[in-house]
Amino acid sequence: MIIGNWKMHKTAKETKLFLDQLLKKEHIDADKVYLAVPFTAIHAASGYKIHLGAQNVCFESDGPYTGEISAAMVKEAGASFTLVGHSERRRLFGEDDEVVRKKLLRAQAAGLRVVLCVGETLEERSAGKEEEVLHRQLTKALSGLEASVGASLAIAYEPVWAIGTGKVATPAQAAKAHLFCYQILEKIFPGQKIPILYGGSVKADNLGELLKAPHIKGALVGGASLDAASYAALVRIGQNVL
Ligand code: PGA
Repeated sequence: MIIGNWKMHKTAKETKLFLDQLLKKEHIDADKVYLAVPFTAIHAASGYKIHLGAQNVCFESDGPYTGEISAAMVKEAGASFTLVGHSERRRLFGEDDEVVRKKLLRAQAAGLRVVLCVGETLEERSAGKEEEVLHRQLTKALSGLEASVGASLAIAYEPVWAIGTGKVATPAQAAKAHLFCYQILEKIFPGQKIPILYGGSVKADNLGELLKAPHIKGALVGGASLDAASYAALVRIGQNVL
């Protein structure tokens, strides 16, 4: 799974241009394409048979939450998955572990696959606390879930210091964090093989090495997913290595 996270980029019209180029000129198979697009582009992209995702959903199912969008709404618009707990949501919009847990429950109740994002800041890493942070984020977000929901879950390990900075984690750093996440997931969902993706400054020149590391089963890509040729290159690398 090479998931593009477009953040606040691309209108519906730009989304269609991207997908026309990706599927027709770059000849990428729609089934290999996973994109988390802005809410307003979901419906426009829904005719392309790609795996379409939202980047966020509300922690409630409906009600007086001005400006919010529910999991059922994005599902109806054509999304099959959603990101939850991206570090930009945690940092800029004040989402804590409890809000992330509620969002995950709402998304799963609406039938969306969830990509739960976790990762430590530079400060936390410098203090040697990365495993403590990952443990807290994973166990809090996943507490109270039925074991069966593991089948519709993926995790993205995204060290915050690597997001949008050009400073990618080394394969060794990523492999260590992925092994740690894998061990926690094995305890919560024994034997379910929940995919763990790496995110943070992924580009065509570093993806291949990262995907060779144990327990790295894909990538969550921001900047390098915005151009169709660049995203196509990442999908091809994923197909070759995984
Ligand atoms: P980046 O973003 O690839 O631009 O670092 C990754 C993300 O935020 O998911």
